[in-house]
Amino acid sequence: MNDNLHQLRCFGCGARITGAEAQPDFRCAVCGDLFEVEYPGWGQRRGNDRPNAGALKWLWRERRSSSESLDRSGVWRFRELLPILDSFGNAVTLQEGNTPLYHLTRTSKALGIDQLFAKHQGMNPTGSFKDTGMTAAMSVAKERGFEWVACASTGNTSAAMAAYAARAGLRSLVLIPEGKIAWGKLSQAMDYGAVTCQLNADFDGCLTLLTQIVKEAPIYLLNSVNPYRLEGQKTPAFEIAEAFDWNVPDHLIVPGGNLGNSSALGKGFRELHELGLVARMPRISVIQAEGANPLVRSFVSNKGASLEPVEAHTRATAIRIGNPASWRKAARVIQETGGWCLDVTEAEISIAKAELGAEGLGCEPASAVTLAGLKKLRAQGAIGSAETVVLVLTGHTLKDADYTIDFHRGTLLKEEETGGPGSPVAAEVESLRRNAVVVEATPAAVLATLKGKVG
Ligand code: F0G
Repeated sequence: MNDNLHQLRCFGCGARITGAEAQPDFRCAVCGDLFEVEYPGWGQRRGNDRPNAGALKWLWRERRSSSESLDRSGVWRFRELLPILDSFGNAVTLQEGNTPLYHLTRTSKALGIDQLFAKHQGMNPTGSFKDTGMTAAMSVAKERGFEWVACASTGNTSAAMAAYAARAGLRSLVLIPEGKIAWGKLSQAMDYGAVTCQLNADFDGCLTLLTQIVKEAPIYLLNSVNPYRLEGQKTPAFEIAEAFDWNVPDHLIVPGGNLGNSSALGKGFRELHELGLVARMPRISVIQAEGANPLVRSFVSNKGASLEPVEAHTRATAIRIGNPASWRKAARVIQETGGWCLDVTEAEISIAKAELGAEGLGCEPASAVTLAGLKKLRAQGAIGSAETVVLVLTGHTLKDADYTIDFHRGTLLKEEETGGPGSPVAAEVESLRRNAVVVEATPAAVLATLKGKVG
């Protein structure tokens, strides 16, 4: 079976090439920009040429009760919308996707938005949204006969790549910034058998170096500059639309690092819209950490027309990226959907993370920027109380347990970040801290710790 119906289109100059013609660094030979996977004819389909929406929606839902591993994947059950392989039999899957969508009951009340949800992509097999992209791009790597794959990473991409490479029987090389990734993620890359190199460079430096390496050796690049990654990462858009019975939510809020995810989710909703499967796109907003905010600066200074790299600093290490590769694609998504691009402080991120935790939803600091951003947008009056809002939580809380423990011990934030003792921010942090206490091993001592906390 030849399921392959795609080509690659340069996002910058519009040049079109076949998948096999792509350069090892996935940059356009004409203008140097990135490619997007394109399915010829989709955008032009009208009337009877359009796919049968009802039949597709029925098929996709039906596959959830199938016992076939391809059907059980929340990516490949939508395979009609990602015909990127010569044969779907080559797909490498860990049954990713199909992640939960939770109603945030307490936060809804606190913010006065009734319909507030979290799409928890941290509930994927390796604990982050990267799995949805990795299943797609790793399948292409395997189909094209590569023996080695590689990525630069702030941690989650490397964990996902190492796991999917192991499943595919391929070898993997990871380049990470030394001392700047969470232990949970590093341990995964080791466990899944990657060759892991810790470099004296930041993420951007690691990616630049890897770009040179893949030009010299037959190694398949699996960062999100690889357009097949984004094909997998667009599928949570389909799951979200399906969860709302194909009436898309008003607003989607996504963290921004290398900006592949926001680009991919935008592409997913755009394609659903073009094919007549949904009536409109949601507004898509991107939130960055204040110390790693090149896209925010770009929107402030020139409405997303050009981007100046920054030296990135944030404890949300997953998004500690100063020169995001997919910024043009993400800027387009924000512009076409009428979304916002804003940044949040280290204190705001930590508070939002603790608030989500108090709802029983653990996530990474990088994921919590979404709630911190929503609070800002709500305070500015940008989001109405009747709107349906979905926060995309990108990573699992256990990825970075050190961050959580430091917060609850009160050692995470510096005084200048909270405004010092007695400030409103410090008071908010204090009200959320739940430090562990050392207690004598007697019932009386344990019960005494509950005084003032019961009733
Ligand atoms: N959230 C988490 C948990 C991440 O790991 C990342 C990116 C992002 C958000 C930002 O997504 O880059 O698509 O804008 N992590 C990459 C990595 C860079 O190497 O794991 P983005």
